[in-house]
Amino acid sequence: MLDNFKDKAEFWDNPDKIKMTEKFSKQLTNSIFLYKKDNLAEVGAGTGLVGLSLVDMVNKVYMVDNSPSMLRVLKQKLDSTNKDKVEIFEGEFENAEINNLDGVICFMSLHHIEDTNNFIREVKNKTKKDGFLAIGDLIEEDGSFHSGKLVPHLGFNLEKISNLLEDEGFIILKETVYDNIYKNEKNYPIFLIIAQR
Ligand SMILES: C[S@@+](CC[C@H](N)C(=O)[O-])C[C@H]1O[C@@H](n2cnc3c(N)ncnc32)[C@H](O)[C@@H]1O
Repeated sequence: MLDNFKDKAEFWDNPDKIKMTEKFSKQLTNSIFLYKKDNLAEVGAGTGLVGLSLVDMVNKVYMVDNSPSMLRVLKQKLDSTNKDKVEIFEGEFENAEINNLDGVICFMSLHHIEDTNNFIREVKNKTKKDGFLAIGDLIEEDGSFHSGKLVPHLGFNLEKISNLLEDEGFIILKETVYDNIYKNEKNYPIFLIIAQR
């Protein structure tokens, strides 16, 4: 499998990424109540900046990612305080045998996942009734965010993604543009959508 983050993993956790993921985690935990019994999955968990910030609040976080290099960095962060609460799955979410989830989180990763509809259906299959899906990602952009490098989606149109979720039977609980990434002398707005199954 191609590891698209091979050259980035070692340097991923820089101050900007840490700040950005902290803002996302804060938005999320200010918007929904996480329970100590909850089992969550983070898809595109990367080095675990988001997932590891939530482990103390829940029972378990399944961290799913198809980049061995990003997961290698994540594994180095596991210690006696968090290792029992984290389960790592290397590969695609659809191939992960995880069920009865209370919630799925996907931060800055959905634009790397080719088939958005299939991802949403997988979330539906793997979550409990009333479980949530929280997506944080870029608003539609002109391709400059990845400096012209081809990625499956150049951000998302909020209305379209909400419609996709509603078509699969999700209820939109929250929809907000809450942050900006300043890069390549441009501002890239970041949204959060929380939907309930
Ligand atoms: C931009 S990074 C974000 C990582 C992390 N969420 C963060 O904010 O620090 C995108 C991550 O999604 C992962 N990814 C991309 N496509 C994926 C897929 N189809 N299945 C699982 N993970 C994927 C990448 O390997 C990478 O770790």
